[in-house]
Amino acid sequence: MGSFIIEVLSLVVRWLHIITGIAWVGASFYFIWLDNSLEDAPAWKQERGIKGDLWSFHGGGIYEVAKYKLGPPQMPKTLHWFYWEAYSTWLTGMLLLLLVYYLQASTYLLPSDGPVTTPWLGILTSLVFIASGFVAYELLLRTPLVKQPLQFAACVTLMLAVLSWVSVQLFSDRAAYLHMGILIGTIMVANVFFGIIPPQRQFVKQIEAGLPPDPAPLHMAKLRSMHNNYFTLPVLFSMISNHYPFLYGHRHNWLILIVIMAIVATARQFFNLRHKGIYKPSILVSCAAAFIVVMALVYWDSQRSVAAAPVNGLSDLAAMELVTQHCVGCHATTPTFAGFAAPPLGVILSSPDEVRLHAEKARQALLANYMPLGNLSGLSAGERQQLVQWLDVQLANK
Ligand code: HEC
Repeated sequence: MGSFIIEVLSLVVRWLHIITGIAWVGASFYFIWLDNSLEDAPAWKQERGIKGDLWSFHGGGIYEVAKYKLGPPQMPKTLHWFYWEAYSTWLTGMLLLLLVYYLQASTYLLPSDGPVTTPWLGILTSLVFIASGFVAYELLLRTPLVKQPLQFAACVTLMLAVLSWVSVQLFSDRAAYLHMGILIGTIMVANVFFGIIPPQRQFVKQIEAGLPPDPAPLHMAKLRSMHNNYFTLPVLFSMISNHYPFLYGHRHNWLILIVIMAIVATARQFFNLRHKGIYKPSILVSCAAAFIVVMALVYWDSQRSVAAAPVNGLSDLAAMELVTQHCVGCHATTPTFAGFAAPPLGVILSSPDEVRLHAEKARQALLANYMPLGNLSGLSAGERQQLVQWLDVQLANK
């Protein structure tokens, strides 16, 4: 019953998290597009302090949007703000982290052979890890580097590479990938909460009081907003990487993650330039090429490790003995493993035919050291190779 309630809660919270995330990312993409697409306003608008304007067609009508250099002479009655999308995405995300990874820390959060072994310590480590990204980013923002976009980007990448390496030491591989997404997502939300909204509120107050507004804090807010824009795609990548054990289970997982994050953040540059009317498809082509090279290396590496293994013939009976001992506790119609109300992802491995049905995925999951989850039953490296080879034979005979 308890695990069923957690399943239902995680379903609802995940659904909310995706909705709020779409609203946040959607609004963020829209405003970046808006800002980059503004055209010079006609003279009569410029006289009123308008910097640029833009016309668009949506929802059966034409919109006229104008952006002021500073602010309007008089504040409007209703001024729309955009921050709840960010806060609610973070809150639902943290709730999901609690439901999936903290409540089931020994299964999902902790690695089988890491330095952290108890759930409470694991949760504390996770929270400290997430906060560390925010602290490191804020420190970087206070260095002169902040004025040099390329050097700043290089430093942030280096900082994230170190954190990515740390995360695979501390957490299970799957949790490690997710933690990098949470860490960057937290930097983004903190940017909104501490760095973007407060100067905007101060700005509105200054205009309302008839004081000349100070543009410096707004420039900083704009910069944070731009950083968020580049962080978006890496965070989304990390969130979906959860479904791909061939990535997070790889022996160079932390390096693969940081390289792909750098590639997708660079891809964002294509769109930012395009909004400004600069069309550089070479950016997207280079990113796609770099991604293909990374995937080719990942494939080559996994093939190499299979080829290096000694050949042996495991009988069906011996293979099923291993599967029963190491997999069926979770992958059965009625799992016996604590915390599982149903077979994960509907994968049942109780008979040779059922195993054959999932042979390809099982092979991948075994090769990536993803299964058995957390390797609590202690499947040895030799047994793992034997099982993979037995699966290869089943796949060849299909
Ligand atoms: C402690 C419980 C547990 C054990 C033991 C376990 N699994 Fe899993 N398995 C899971 C969970 C949980 C998932 C779902 C993970 C997810 O959502 O990505 C899963 C998913 C899978 C998948 C689907 C992967 C995909 O990407 O679709 C396969 C295949 C699989 N396991 C095979 C195995 C094999 C083979 C073994 C034994 C060597 C094994 N599992 C042992 C819990 C377990």
